[in-house]
Amino acid sequence: MKVLVVGNGGREHAIIKSLKKSDKIDEIIAIAGNGGIASDATIVNINVKDVEKIADWAKENEIDFAVVAPDDPLVLGAVDLLEQKGIPCFGPNKNAAIIEGSKIFSKNLMKKYNIPTAKYETFSDMQSALDYLDTCDMPIVIKADGLALGKGVIIAENLQDAKTAVKSMMQDKVFGNSGANVVIEEFLTGPEVSVLSFTDGKTLVPMVSSMDHKRALDDDKGLNTGGMGTVAPNPYYTEEIAKECMEKIFIPTMNAMNNEGRTFKGCLYFGLMLTPKGPKVIEYNCRFGDPETQVVLPLLKTDLFEIMRAVANQTLDKIKVEFLDKSACCVIMASKGYPESYEKGYEITIDKDLDNVFVAGAKLENGKLLTNGGRVLGVTAIDTNLKGAIEKAYKNVQKITFENAFYRKDIGKRALKAYGEE
Ligand code: AMP
Ligand code: GLY
Repeated sequence: MKVLVVGNGGREHAIIKSLKKSDKIDEIIAIAGNGGIASDATIVNINVKDVEKIADWAKENEIDFAVVAPDDPLVLGAVDLLEQKGIPCFGPNKNAAIIEGSKIFSKNLMKKYNIPTAKYETFSDMQSALDYLDTCDMPIVIKADGLALGKGVIIAENLQDAKTAVKSMMQDKVFGNSGANVVIEEFLTGPEVSVLSFTDGKTLVPMVSSMDHKRALDDDKGLNTGGMGTVAPNPYYTEEIAKECMEKIFIPTMNAMNNEGRTFKGCLYFGLMLTPKGPKVIEYNCRFGDPETQVVLPLLKTDLFEIMRAVANQTLDKIKVEFLDKSACCVIMASKGYPESYEKGYEITIDKDLDNVFVAGAKLENGKLLTNGGRVLGVTAIDTNLKGAIEKAYKNVQKITFENAFYRKDIGKRALKAYGEE
């Protein structure tokens, strides 16, 4: 079997390393991949947003199965184009990827089907949005409707900041067309949990829960980033809460999408907040999370490719999806300055006996691996308990060097605290 994986980050590296364990696969090709992924897959340089070209290439090169991992190509309809050419895929069609592609769509879906989420209003006219803000309690949350590289959410502490945020999105177009429409929603509090799930539209299987660390600096200070580290499982996500989420959120979402004629097949990601009034949806993603995938997939016992094929064939009910009863911790090593400006091009050395190193921003040049992005790589370790996993992950970080390397020292600390184990 020739399998294509579309994407070029640490998440895709984790997916590829998991797929490599399957004896059903002969070759993995990555579009566009990166310098680290090159050790585990054949790289083909096509922009991940060039979905027509990707589908043509896949057909010409007799790809048997495709995994489309990032939001952009999914929202642009990569799966539809690949399927039209007879290539089975893991990932939602365009009409289902809208669950991430439009926050207004997802909020209206939740309202219509009584899925718990923050109260909200949507606006396409700036003056109405500004007038509405005058009636709101602070803090308030302002979200661009469309994709904005994970940056389209602003939490405003006061009215002035809230108005500035609305103007920056709707008037100054800092997120381009993605901010032409906005959602203004109630500020919620409580621990956040990420739950990725496999679903074929008939069956939904949640994966092990995880916890992201979005801020750049220790103690959750500094700017928001794509994610500086993750742990799994998430200690706040008890069996009782999991059951409640399954009944009130996960299954209702799958059914709602079916009802709307938008059957979702792929990885449906639930970003949840465990509020004093129960779990609520903060966001849906139509794909694996990054860096959640880097802790979730290393804990997966079942053959990932078998699961992905079952999702594509809508036979997920025939597969027993199992995870190790262990903990995982992923520490992201970034370039100093990320998420703002940073330098690139420094040589990366990785100790040979390290496994679970997932490369995100690096390129190969004359046989050398060089830094080429803000988030450079993620180092994941597994142990019987979280404390052990954290210790191992940080020990492994010491076995990787590049100039200007920067990482948080407290990944997992919040989770340990929740276990009462600081
Ligand atoms: P999102 O891109 O939708 O995941 O939002 C980014 C982050 O903003 C989330 O991980 C939350 O920490 C925060 N956030 C989003 N919506 C809300 C909300 N309604 N109340 C409080 N925090 C929120
Ligand atoms: N880690 C959050 C995301 O992938 O959107």
